[in-house]
Amino acid sequence: MSNFKSKIKTIEWVENYSKMVDQTLLPEEFKYVNITTGDSMYKAIKTMIVRGAPAIGVAGAHGVVLYAQELAKENISRDEFINKLLKKADYMASSRPTAVNLMWAVKKQKEIVKKSQSDIKGIVEELKANAIKLENEDIEINKKIGDFGAEVVPKGATILTHCNAGALATVGYGTALGVVRSAFANDPTVKVFADETRPRQQGARITTLELTMDGIPTTLITDGMCSYFMKKGMIDMVVVGADRIAANGDTANKIGTYTVAIAAKYHNIPFYIAAPLSTIDTSIKTGDEIIIEERSREEVTHINGKIICAPDVNVINPGFDVTPNELITGIITEKGILKPDYKKSILEAFNC
Ligand code: MRU
Repeated sequence: MSNFKSKIKTIEWVENYSKMVDQTLLPEEFKYVNITTGDSMYKAIKTMIVRGAPAIGVAGAHGVVLYAQELAKENISRDEFINKLLKKADYMASSRPTAVNLMWAVKKQKEIVKKSQSDIKGIVEELKANAIKLENEDIEINKKIGDFGAEVVPKGATILTHCNAGALATVGYGTALGVVRSAFANDPTVKVFADETRPRQQGARITTLELTMDGIPTTLITDGMCSYFMKKGMIDMVVVGADRIAANGDTANKIGTYTVAIAAKYHNIPFYIAAPLSTIDTSIKTGDEIIIEERSREEVTHINGKIICAPDVNVINPGFDVTPNELITGIITEKGILKPDYKKSILEAFNC
């Protein structure tokens, strides 16, 4: 496995609270905040203090522990504790709608609550242990994704990525940027082009920061520039993350990903998704069933608090789009690189 050392741990359970990088402050400040209540975790996910599909999955699992700790202090029966906690868990899972890792991790916590034979204190401990397990597994999975992905990165490649699917979108190491890290460990001539990723600029604010912190050569471009550089032969492959993948391989990721995939197809450039199996939602047949988060008009009308358009202009702000499976060269997972026909390869990955 790659021995590349990334400096970042995005989220971590510490004794009885969750410690995370406040991503709303990046890149100006790299600061950790402590989240000590279930309601403040709900808010941290909703306001994107923590963001990125795998990171919000772990945050959701931490959130359930925080609610459990709070309910354990109330003078209620074990049955009442369980009923209330399951409702709070559902509330936590509703903090953002598109990234399925959140629902997946909360479901894992709910299963523990339902199956446990322990008293209230014991249930809290079991939830805590599971949250820490999910946290540790995330990094291991990302390293496996990184190493599988590195095998398809050509020598000296320039890799285009969109949004941030890095250490800061996971517990550490990253999915798409995990591939970059593992490739760079083998070949220090590998480079990255990072799309700015309007409206919230995760590419500019977060991807460029974490890659340069790790010494990986990175060039920032704006979202409209990708086909220009593809035509010039300056992009060798695209690797992006995912928020939800349907059973047929259709993939929801940050708005703008679909445009990059179309441009890559036109220029005959391989387009890869890097994601753990927990991002695959086999309960939905196609990407048409994925709920797309609608975000605020201010994200589009303002940059750093400054208005950039006519104040009363109409705005529409979907947070994600869905790339159809036929534009995807492969889906890099911890079980290997899945290839079309995705219906078949996804099923096989879950069964092996
Ligand atoms: O709105 P965000 O910043 O949570 O969106 C994040 C993305 O779209 C990432 O590319 C995706 O979650 C993959 S993260 C490994």
